[in-house]
Amino acid sequence: MINNQVYHPLLEKAARFQVLGKSPAGFYLRLNKLVWERLPSRVRNLHAFHSYGAWLHSLVCLGAKRQQFFGTFFLRNRPALELMRRLARQKVQGSNLRIAVLGCSIGAEVYSILWTIRSARPDLNVLLDAVDISKEILSFAEKGIYAPDTSQLVGTSIFERLTEAERVKMFDWEGDRAKIKSWLRQGITWYLRDAADPELVNIIGPHDLVVASNFLCHLSRADAENCLRNVARLVSPGGYLFVSGIDLDVRTKVALDLGWEPVRDLLVEIHDGDRSVQADWPWAWWGLEPLNRKRHDWQTRYAAVFRVNVRGLRPGRHNG
Ligand SMILES: C[S@@+](CC[C@H](N)C(=O)[O-])C[C@H]1O[C@@H](n2cnc3c(N)ncnc32)[C@H](O)[C@@H]1O
Repeated sequence: MINNQVYHPLLEKAARFQVLGKSPAGFYLRLNKLVWERLPSRVRNLHAFHSYGAWLHSLVCLGAKRQQFFGTFFLRNRPALELMRRLARQKVQGSNLRIAVLGCSIGAEVYSILWTIRSARPDLNVLLDAVDISKEILSFAEKGIYAPDTSQLVGTSIFERLTEAERVKMFDWEGDRAKIKSWLRQGITWYLRDAADPELVNIIGPHDLVVASNFLCHLSRADAENCLRNVARLVSPGGYLFVSGIDLDVRTKVALDLGWEPVRDLLVEIHDGDRSVQADWPWAWWGLEPLNRKRHDWQTRYAAVFRVNVRGLRPGRHNG
């Protein structure tokens, strides 16, 4: 048992069981979906329905064969970017800020982070290590040139969260081709690597901010947990880990095991900051459970940002 959700091998078998090629669990879920989608949102938000939704989501996760996706957006989670800006604001004038982005896909997240931080703190020397496991996607990211068919490549409409003014400030446009401005392309090192590789920390070293968004949910729970523990090793003592798009039970377990401190600033806003994953709960394994303040562990469970390796700090040292 992890937290209060039951992952029994028998339940997993039941979720995957088939009769003449048809899944009774799948039928049960489809029936529930029909009813669920007709309920007013105030009813769905009631405690009993939230618990029932969590049960349905467990069944979905147990029955699913997970696979990776490349989907991404520019300025995907604005409150998370705002928190990065606030953390960058604490840095000493002219100092280095080291950032790692794992599972960076075609680079939209990397350039969004650099745009946010460099716009706010042009004096900082921001060095960013971007890691992805796909060679094709990484070389695309490095070029930083986006065209209408890029959205098809990753299966999401990558520019949809940008205002007109942001489109102008982030890109040089040639017709419908958008090239990332040169001041946003500097200071990035691209790595074709597996985020779960134990050697990664020796290759890219420690970072003030480490970002792992929307790829751990596509791994099995055991692989996601191992990978998350490995990713946490990339955070400097007292640094910050941004981790979203992961099974909440897995993240909570690792956070408690390793004594991470949930960051309360913008916690709710960041949780609610990416509408694409919220809309898919409880019907997809990547769907994000609505925040429930009635849970005793709600701050750890719903925080997507943690201060980690605090024990490694020398007494009296303040990060920033
Ligand atoms: C859904 S995209 C997420 C992109 C971006 N992080 C975001 O949140 O918008 C997932 C990306 O993670 C990459 N990925 C999956 N498993 C990985 C691993 N073990 N190590 C590094 N990258 C991985 C995939 O190749 C893909 O580009």
